[in-house]
Amino acid sequence: MRFVGQRETGGPEVLQIEEGALPSAGPGEVLIRVMAAGVNRPDCFQRAGFYPPPPGASPIIGLEVAGTIAAVGKEVTDWQVGHSCCALVTGGGYAEYCVAPQETLLPIPEGMGFTEAATLPETFFTVWSNVFQRGQLSNQETFLVQGGSSGIGSTAIQLVSALGHRVFATAGSPEKCAFCETLGAERAVNYRQEDFVAVIKSLTDQRGVDVILDMVVGDYLPRELKLLKDGGRLVIIAFLGGSKVQVDFAEVMRRRLTITGSTLRARELEFKKRVRDELLNHAWPLLSQGRINTHIYQQFTLDNAAKAHAVMESGRHMGKLVLTVA
Ligand SMILES: NC(=O)c1ccc[n+]([C@@H]2O[C@H](COP(=O)([O-])OP(=O)(O)OC[C@H]3O[C@@H](n4cnc5c(N)ncnc54)[C@H](OP(=O)(O)O)[C@@H]3O)[C@@H](O)[C@H]2O)c1
Repeated sequence: MRFVGQRETGGPEVLQIEEGALPSAGPGEVLIRVMAAGVNRPDCFQRAGFYPPPPGASPIIGLEVAGTIAAVGKEVTDWQVGHSCCALVTGGGYAEYCVAPQETLLPIPEGMGFTEAATLPETFFTVWSNVFQRGQLSNQETFLVQGGSSGIGSTAIQLVSALGHRVFATAGSPEKCAFCETLGAERAVNYRQEDFVAVIKSLTDQRGVDVILDMVVGDYLPRELKLLKDGGRLVIIAFLGGSKVQVDFAEVMRRRLTITGSTLRARELEFKKRVRDELLNHAWPLLSQGRINTHIYQQFTLDNAAKAHAVMESGRHMGKLVLTVA
């Protein structure tokens, strides 16, 4: 099969098409004929050498795919050769064939093609597990996502607003802010020009928000603590602004705040299956009804994976990037 390989770590130019043997599906796994593969920021970190695959994962880059099942391993229930699916994988997505565990397989939402479906798993698993499981967003609570125009941010805005919550976002340009607002954010704050704490407090009677999903950290963290309501939760999924900060924990204690975070890729299959099952119940119907849409900024063929990484690292994209494979 053809896949995107790399002989060394480095910039997007190290990515190149290579040929190798088909992977095989072990017990509980399926082999997917990949039609499209989503591109995510962690793929760039892996290419550059900062995010090695966890033990047992394919060394090939790529965390999500959509396609048809070409073979099933022993002990696979519910899925058969020929079925269409999308899947969260720990690696191997940028290839013509990819192995996935049955626990992370999902049907393609009604009305969607492979290209759109390939952009779903990584952001939906991440947003669901961090906002609703770790962050415990519930009832009429309010929500802020930093980096609202990103792949993660665009999923978070749509999913959380479709479930009836007030959503705020930050982004780095007027165009990106407008994009966030069309997705369902009540107000997107251009963090280069405005103070997100002051703007969102003014829109919430000075009360702030219940849950923040953060990919920045750095100097945002003390400001985020000020923006949280008493009992609020800050959930960290990346630290694009730096991982080391000074925090006054007196405020955390006095106002009963929670600071938490998580990574997804190396988590156990039982956990991923629970997230998959909740997504099937709560998010997939919204996708099938067209109440949540995918937003693909640009698509590339597999042999143009380097161009996709260059666009992602330019930061100009809004929504998702995707590779078409077959
Ligand atoms: N922990 C996990 O399980 C997990 C899973 C998946 C992804 N992630 C992480 O989540 C992040 C987003 O992933 P992605 O694939 O969606 O990447 P992406 O589309 O490239 O998003 C990165 C975003 O960060 C924003 N950003 C950077 N500095 C900012 C700041 N100071 N304030 C507000 N926004 C800022 C950028 O927006 P502007 O141009 O507006 O600045 C951009 O939209 C990545 O860091 C990724 O590694 C974590």
